[in-house]
Formats: sequence, C-alpha cells, structure tokens
Amino acid sequence: MQIETIPIRTEPAYEAAIGPGLLRECGARLTAVIPRCRIAVVTDSTVGPLYLETVTVSLRKAGYPVCAYTFPAGEEHKNLTTLSAILEFLAAERLTRTDCLIALGGGVAGDMAGFAAAVYLRGIRFVQLPTTLLAMVDSSVGGKTAVDLEAGKNLAGAFLQPAAVLCDTDCLGTLPPNVFADGAAEAVKTGVLCGEELFAALERGMLRENPAKIISRCIAYKAGVVERDEREQGERKLLNLGHTVGHAIEKCSGYAVSHGHAVAAGMAIMARSAQRLGWMEEPLADRLGAVLRSLTLHPGISYSAERLAEAALADKKRAGDHITLVVPKRMGECELKTVPVKDLLSIIRAGWEE
Ligand code: NAD
Ligand code: GLY
Repeated sequence: MQIETIPIRTEPAYEAAIGPGLLRECGARLTAVIPRCRIAVVTDSTVGPLYLETVTVSLRKAGYPVCAYTFPAGEEHKNLTTLSAILEFLAAERLTRTDCLIALGGGVAGDMAGFAAAVYLRGIRFVQLPTTLLAMVDSSVGGKTAVDLEAGKNLAGAFLQPAAVLCDTDCLGTLPPNVFADGAAEAVKTGVLCGEELFAALERGMLRENPAKIISRCIAYKAGVVERDEREQGERKLLNLGHTVGHAIEKCSGYAVSHGHAVAAGMAIMARSAQRLGWMEEPLADRLGAVLRSLTLHPGISYSAERLAEAALADKKRAGDHITLVVPKRMGECELKTVPVKDLLSIIRAGWEE
C-alpha cells in the first residue's frame, strides 16, 4: 500500500507520512532528516508493550543508539510530575542538544514528550510517531505541546514543530473502539471546518473503510492553517471548535471523559447554540449530531450549563472580561466570536438541551 506524504511548510518545514508499516521502517526513514545521534523514545505503559520493540529495533538497525522511558498511560498523567520524570531521565541518560526525542503514542505522549523536547537543554529535536487516530488526524502535526495543570487543560506548554511525523496506520488495529472514536471526533471537527467534501466522506463511513485517506485530508487541512498562523494569533483558533465546552467537560469529570468524547459534546452544544441563537446561516446541528452518533460518539452531557460555564471560564482562551468561541456558520465556515464572559452561561444553556 502506498505511503502518502504531506509537507508542513513551517519554519523549519517537515513532512508527515501516512500509511502501513511505518514503525518498522522508522529508523531508515529518519536517517533522511535526523543525522546519527542518540534517540530517547518516550511512550506510555499501554503503547510500550505493543510497539516499543518494533521502533527500537528499527532505530538501532539504522544506526541510532536508543534509550526509552515509559510513563503510566492516561490523561491524568499528562502533568508536571511526569514531565519532570521525563526530563530527569533525559538528563540521567546525558542526552545532548544534538540528540533527539521520539514521542511514541497518542496525544498524551505527543504533547508531553514534545514539551519535554522543547524545554530540555532549551530545545532538542523531536519526532512524532502517533499511534492513535486522534494523534494522527490532529495532535502530532502543528507543534503544540503541553501538560495539564490543576487549574485546567494544557495550561503549560510550548510550540515546537517536530522534525518528522510518521503515522503508521497499522497501529489503528489495536485501538479500543472508544479511543478510535476520540480520533473520529477530531476528524469530524476538521470536516466541519474544512467543508462538504470531507464531512460527506465521514458521513459515508470512509473513516472505517479508508482511514489513511481521512488522516491525509485532515493533516493537509491542518497544515494549511498552521502554515498561515503557527502561533495561534488568529485563524488557528478555529481548530478549537468544540474545545471551550469540551475542556470544561474534561475538567468537570476529572479527566474521566476523554478529550475526543468531550470535544464531540462541545461541538454538539456549540452547533445547537449557534443554530438557536441565529448565528448559523445553514442549519448543521442535526447533521453534526447524526455523524457523531454514527461514529459511536453519543454526546450526552452530564454536567449542568452552570458547571460547564464555570469550568470554561478558567480556560486559557479567556481574555479578561471576554472569551472567544468558535461558532459554526455553515459547512466549511466557522467564525471566531468574542463574547463577554457574562454571556457564556446563556450561550451554553441555548445549546445544552438536545
Ligand atoms: P492518549 O494518548 O491518552 O491515548 C488514549 C489511550 O490509547 C491511552 O491509554 C493509550 O495508551 C492508548 N493507545 C495509544 N495508542 C494505542 C494503540 N495503537 N493501540 C492501543 N492502545 C493505544 O489520548 P489521545 O486521544 O491520543 O490524545 C488526547 C490528548 O491529545 C489530550 O491530552 C489532548 O489535549 C491532546 N491533543 C493535543 C493536540 C495538539 O495539537 N497538541 C490536539 C488535539 C488533542
Ligand atoms: N488542535 C488544535 C491545534 O493544533 O491548534
């Protein structure tokens, strides 16, 4: 099967490759972008037993000395304690500035290992080997890295573009259905932003039939946004569709509700609010709800509008007395709407009921 390659023209530029067998080939592929050096692979306790050996064998065969650090899987470990342990590991292994860190895993491994790479010795090279659908369609590309603080999601982080992203679609075969669904939520988000063609492909069930094609389309769309607005000064904020309420749901649940499921619920609320408040030019809420349900995302909401608004107001996207929301207008067009924080509760309330 063919490997598709998508350029991401940031500074520095890099490529994302998508297709089967890429973990087995990762060593040989990386020799084109990473000069011989020591490599630290950071992975989690679920992904490590599945894929770490394949990756280390491939890297060693290509001539890279390898060490590996495994942290306990789960969003609840995406924090400063784990970050600190990773940094101490890199220091104990005496990695230097010319060495490289590889994130092997889902969005949690990518975000946290990426942050470690951004701050260790003020920045070392970094490669993403995403193993979840969510990390392939979204988090491995674009250079956002972060950990969660007690106060909320992703509140400490850095921008660091990876030197390469290899999306081995064989890894999707071991994903539990609910983790696959998390990635489906981010693909649907991209569909709403990107337009009819991708959204309709998701409605037709292409994510199951040909995930590589959907991953490629999502990455190509995100690449364009990131190239135009790497540091999220404007357009990139649109990628946070569903995230203000989504992050609030994650926070209210103590991270028991996973990111993708929370974003799905956040998108459903925002679409209903936008429709009911007359902000939408083409009604999308029913279509969005139907595609989410077809992908086993059932965005029921267990928290009151009051609790969600309170949690959302601790979100970093709040700027003083105002908060910026991503509002869907029609398929392929969302807008940023900055509203007074006092209005957030009534906006969430408008979309809270199905
Ligand atoms: P995750 O990394 O926690 O992975 C979910 C679960 O699946 C984990 O238990 C993991 O061990 C397991 N897993 C991973 N790959 C597997 C495989 N191939 N087979 C079996 N099990 C596997 O979560 P996620 O959904 O990948 O990512 C969510 C995180 O991504 C959140 O923290 C979110 O904030 C972040 N995120 C970041 C960005 C960004 O741009 N940086 C974008 C979207 C989301
Ligand atoms: N997932 C949002 C972003 O990368 O900007």
